Amino acid sequence: MPVPFIDLRRFEPDFLQRWLHVCRDVTQNTRFVGGPDVVRLEDSLVQASGCHGFVACANGTDALQLALRAVGVGTGDLVVIPDATFWATFEAVVNCGGRPVTVDIDPADLQMDFDLFREAVERYRPRAAILVHLYGWGSARLDEFRSFCRERSLPLIEDGAQSFGVTWRGESIYRGAELATVSFYPAKVLGSCGDAGGVYCSTPELEDRLRRLGNHGRQDHYRYGMVGWNSRMSGFDAAYLNLCLEYFEARLSSRRRLAQRYRERLHEMGVKVPAVPEGYEENGYLNVTLQAPEHREAVKTALAEAGIGFGEVYPGSMSTQPGADGHLYGAVGGNQAQWLSRSVLNLPLFAYMSEAEQDEVLTALGRALES
Ligand SMILES: Cc1ncc(COP(=O)(O)O)c(C=O)c1O
Repeated sequence: MPVPFIDLRRFEPDFLQRWLHVCRDVTQNTRFVGGPDVVRLEDSLVQASGCHGFVACANGTDALQLALRAVGVGTGDLVVIPDATFWATFEAVVNCGGRPVTVDIDPADLQMDFDLFREAVERYRPRAAILVHLYGWGSARLDEFRSFCRERSLPLIEDGAQSFGVTWRGESIYRGAELATVSFYPAKVLGSCGDAGGVYCSTPELEDRLRRLGNHGRQDHYRYGMVGWNSRMSGFDAAYLNLCLEYFEARLSSRRRLAQRYRERLHEMGVKVPAVPEGYEENGYLNVTLQAPEHREAVKTALAEAGIGFGEVYPGSMSTQPGADGHLYGAVGGNQAQWLSRSVLNLPLFAYMSEAEQDEVLTALGRALES
């Protein structure tokens, strides 16, 4: 039986009918941009997270740009980012006029290395930093990142595009962040019916700046206090996300169960799987296995022949991308991010994937590793 890497069509039995009803309501009432659906979404997300505020926007890349601009990053400013992330993290810094300094990862948790981060801050004196919560968990040293930056008044933006639903010490990972961004791209754990995103924030001042930046810098309809842009969320996205929130716990538990089952089975098979640091409950965004780089191509070929989807998230570090030329200001650390990009192999994991499908994946992987 073929198993796709991701299948977004596993809706609950009553979901589509309810969504069609919502679509009709949004359309009949022309709630197309912003409006009560967006307000309801923002309120729900604030309540669930315990953060001061949440500002909805057009996508997770804009969310990063809004956060960077909100803390004052502009032309020529240095911003420290991890070397292992999605390109949007790098891109957002450059689009705000900044220059990225990459920091290598800690091979134990695959997140930015805190000691190297400290070194980068001392050496480059950046204007801001972005810590990415990669793969569905976060850094074992999250508290140290936060307190180090707080003590130095260094704005720390947490790129939480992949970490919706992750808990840290029993609370939302976004709680305690100065600013944390989210992506609601359809393949995310809370995915929309189009591109969408948002920023969690810790103060009313940040909330005000974020709202104005994402709505043309408006003070009122035809008065502009700053240059922003249009990053408003559509009413359809907000309404879809509001509906998905009603099913969220079931979707999250399904992902977590599958993630845990992978861990147990892969461990028995002798496959290297990174451990989730103590204090976290992962959200099951991605399965991560670490293959010997010299064998990974053969494993991929065998999986493809068996009809099993897989991913390589991500096949290259930021500092080695051709697009980094002329923008990268510095790179701190060794080559762990490059080792990760040569080793990582992600197996299928999505809400409501069946155990039979998962067994099929594991059997195909077992055969691939034997051959
Ligand atoms: C770590 C990370 N940052 C930022 C983004 C950008 O989000 P979006 O695709 O919604 O712009 C993503 C999306 O995949 C991501 O994984």
